[in-house]
Amino acid sequence: MGRIRRASTHDVSGVYRVCLKTGAAGGDATEEHENPDLLGHAYAGAYLAGEPKFALVAVDEHGVGGYAVGAPDTRTFESWLEQHWWPTLREQYPLTPEVENARTPDARLIRRFHRPSATRDGLLEEFPAHLHINLLERCRGGGMGRALIEELTGALRQHGCTGVHLGVAPENQSAIGFYRRLGFETLASRPDELVLGMRFV
Ligand SMILES: CC(C)(COP(=O)(O)OP(=O)(O)OC[C@H]1O[C@@H](n2cnc3c(N)ncnc32)[C@H](O)[C@@H]1OP(=O)(O)O)[C@@H](O)C(=O)NCCC(=O)NCCS
Repeated sequence: MGRIRRASTHDVSGVYRVCLKTGAAGGDATEEHENPDLLGHAYAGAYLAGEPKFALVAVDEHGVGGYAVGAPDTRTFESWLEQHWWPTLREQYPLTPEVENARTPDARLIRRFHRPSATRDGLLEEFPAHLHINLLERCRGGGMGRALIEELTGALRQHGCTGVHLGVAPENQSAIGFYRRLGFETLASRPDELVLGMRFV
């Protein structure tokens, strides 16, 4: 069994590795991406850089085996991304006509760097925080997921947040079962995403 600690800059490669190996609705997305960095850029790295107080890693004798990251105020985090995170990625991965027209997962991620979607206002009144959690297979099923969520939601609650939300692929039934077991309720159900939330007050 591993341990949980605050993530540091030294954990970036480990976190990106976990992000890629769990990026296909919980399964390994390595084969879907020619560039192994893009998923981490889109879903993980910014939390280590911009919200380090809410970035946790699960570590065992093989290294980083999982993480839980979040932001206490999603709108503030989106502004931070716009100022500090997306500009460099937009420069490194320009929106060429090829990228605009390609149907590959890599091109979809690059388009997202240029046109990130904003979270709906209605959701943020009650559930201003959001989080992501991912564990490699070797770290699953032993209580590490619960421990990560409890530590992260504890930190968000202590920060004064009223609630947290997250998005999950509808086909990721095992993650949905896990979230429900931990007390998350359904906030919205769309064909491509189920939005779940937990109130702190
Ligand atoms: C989803 C995930 C984070 C869960 O972590 P985990 O370490 O496997 O879960 P835990 O062992 O801590 O389980 C916590 C509780 O949830 C329960 N649980 C786990 N999966 C469940 C399921 N599918 N249905 C019902 N309950 C479930 C456990 O029985 C346990 O209950 P208890 O603590 O009351 O005894 C982990 O499996 C994972 O990273 N999966 C791949 C990536 C992923 O899908 N991430 C989510 C993307 S939105």
